[in-house]
Amino acid sequence: MDDSMNDSMNVLVCGGAGYIGSHMVRLLQEQGHTPVVFDNLSTGHAEAVPEDCLVRGDLRDKSALRRVFAEHAFDAVMHFAAKSIVPESVTDPALYYENNVAGTLNLLDAMREEGVMRFVFSSTAAVYGNPIDGGAQGNGVFTMDELHPVAPLNPYGHSKLFIEQVLQAQARAYGLRSVAFRYFNAAGAAPDGELGESHDPETHLIPNILRAALGTGPELHLFGDDYATPDGTCVRDYIHVNDLADAHLRALGFMRREEGAHTFNLGNGQGFSVRQVLQAAEEVTGRPIPHTISPRRPGDADVLVADSAKARAVLGWEPKVTDMRELMETAWRWHSDQKF
Ligand SMILES: NC(=O)c1ccc[n+]([C@@H]2O[C@H](COP(=O)([O-])OP(=O)(O)OC[C@H]3O[C@@H](n4cnc5c(N)ncnc54)[C@H](O)[C@@H]3O)[C@@H](O)[C@H]2O)c1
Repeated sequence: MDDSMNDSMNVLVCGGAGYIGSHMVRLLQEQGHTPVVFDNLSTGHAEAVPEDCLVRGDLRDKSALRRVFAEHAFDAVMHFAAKSIVPESVTDPALYYENNVAGTLNLLDAMREEGVMRFVFSSTAAVYGNPIDGGAQGNGVFTMDELHPVAPLNPYGHSKLFIEQVLQAQARAYGLRSVAFRYFNAAGAAPDGELGESHDPETHLIPNILRAALGTGPELHLFGDDYATPDGTCVRDYIHVNDLADAHLRALGFMRREEGAHTFNLGNGQGFSVRQVLQAAEEVTGRPIPHTISPRRPGDADVLVADSAKARAVLGWEPKVTDMRELMETAWRWHSDQKF
């Protein structure tokens, strides 16, 4: 069955003014669905979504949530809204548990009150913690599938794992249907350059590389070149933002036919080292990228690469952007003429 095909649906997109959510809103509209964005704009941008579908509100405000559910008949909810800066979650865990856990519990309560029973959740590879031996060896690279033990290293990862467990319990108790996607590193931008990644502070590698190339950001710090990888720098899995959005669309169709709470990795299954990413950026931009080698950061694993075979087999999902150069070109188009 092709889960990319769905009848038109009304979809509440929490956090839809953020980086990944805004690409999702666009895809939903292109596919004939009706998204309503609920966002407090704490890290998102009003310019990233059509004005007529944006509702400004905070997940911690139960009455604002009730209002949005009362005004629309939603078929499903996609939940991108979260605080997601790992070091900040270590220094201010209360903020992370309040926003990511309490806020999500409010959302699930509002859904249950209104009988909305389909939920797609943005989880993260951070639920796994450090990779342990015994992972699959796809492409000769150590990869993690969904059976890898979960052991988050910080409150951010813990807040996401807790919600995954809530979803399991609510499936059993209330019949809530859900899909939790464990993204690896979201990257890239809309190919037409109209949407892209805009975080402040920016903590992600590719935007920071491109800002260094443009001179709009500081010189890049490359944290550690003595990891157990071919060139000594950390290897990560970068998945294009539109490939993430495509998986969410498929989840809508999947939940029509499947009960229960389901978990899928989303990654492209290829690892790229920091040096490889840097090299792709130099080739695409035609500019040297100023950088220095800094000491390792505590807690960074050598290699984090997804095994997404389950999403491929069950959802029929196939990442379309598998080449780092192609991914970088979309990001560069956005950053070199950033709209917001
Ligand atoms: N970007 C990545 O590489 C990555 C990787 C793994 C998981 N994730 C998860 O994916 C989701 C989206 O990430 P992103 O990079 O697009 O983040 P983002 O910060 O760009 O988007 C999050 C959006 O949620 C909104 N928001 C936050 N708290 C809210 C609240 N209490 N009420 C209403 N709105 C609120 C923000 O204003 C923002 O628009 C997050 O849940 C994140 O944890 C992202």
